[in-house]
Amino acid sequence: MRETINFNAENTEQLEQFRIRFLGKKGELNDLFELFKTIPNDQKREMGKIINDLKIAVQQKIDELKERLENNQDQPVAKEDLTRPSSFSELGARHPLSVVRNEIISIFSHMGFVVSEGPEIEDDWHNFTALNFPPEHPARDMQDTFFIEKSPEVGKDIALRTHTSSAQIRAMERNKPPIRHLYPGRVYRNEAISARAHCQFHQIEGLYVDKNVSFADLKQTLLYFAKEMFGADTKIRLRPSYFPFTEPSAELDVSCNICKGKGCNVCKYTGWLEILGCGMVDPNVLDNCGIDSTVYSGYAFGMGIERIAMLKYEIKDLRLYFENDLRFLNQFTGVY
Ligand code: PHE
Repeated sequence: MRETINFNAENTEQLEQFRIRFLGKKGELNDLFELFKTIPNDQKREMGKIINDLKIAVQQKIDELKERLENNQDQPVAKEDLTRPSSFSELGARHPLSVVRNEIISIFSHMGFVVSEGPEIEDDWHNFTALNFPPEHPARDMQDTFFIEKSPEVGKDIALRTHTSSAQIRAMERNKPPIRHLYPGRVYRNEAISARAHCQFHQIEGLYVDKNVSFADLKQTLLYFAKEMFGADTKIRLRPSYFPFTEPSAELDVSCNICKGKGCNVCKYTGWLEILGCGMVDPNVLDNCGIDSTVYSGYAFGMGIERIAMLKYEIKDLRLYFENDLRFLNQFTGVY
């Protein structure tokens, strides 16, 4: 008697299950051999042959399926199409503040500036005193400070830096002129969070100290920067201002790149946008850092990165920078 066994194995696991079911220790053929022991002797010859034939048929079927699987013939087509293009994987985007910081660094690097950094937790000397803020001077109130340690001794407080100007002091204490540095970083001020103010933001500071550095050098450097950042037809103007660490001090305005100077609500219908503070480093500051102010002079400037990015990308609310909303961040995909 020969039965055809109607079974197909799609993979080696299925084939192995088939083998265990019939030929395994507890398989069906073993059951039949157990049964075989109990039947009357005169039937043994006939039944023995049937069981043996079945065993051979099962073994042949297994061999046949094994060969087929090995040669991969008559196999159903693979469920996965291996030539299919891979599924799209989302790429992150650079944060707009990093984009703008890198752009500022790149522009100034063409004029020989290199990046240096200072700590975010500062002592009173580097954040205030060395920068010519006398103790108890009202100028200290210009920047509401987050104190980490208030000391009973004057000038010994520890605070989160309120501006990157503190990094200038550290650099001048460590280096001899010529110094041509940029100091990017986070700064902190105790202000209520709104669309126009935040308690944490980013600045980038520039410092150039050498022999014969003049206000004309400062103006030309900033003009080049403004044109590179906001377009070749950008105009600048300097308005007198006050900072304890620069003398004279000024604020730099650029012509509004949104209305091209005609007047719009971003420039409050003035045609000008304020972008940074600057000035000639006060001789007292040079002397505080061990640089002879009778030999050397310097200029410094400092700007808010959030503000520059707001003007460049017409971002209306400062809080967007820190909320990590993908609808906002995705707009900068592909921007470097
Ligand atoms: N430190 C000033 C501020 O935070 C900016 C500034 C830097 C002004 C350097 C002049 C020179 O407002």
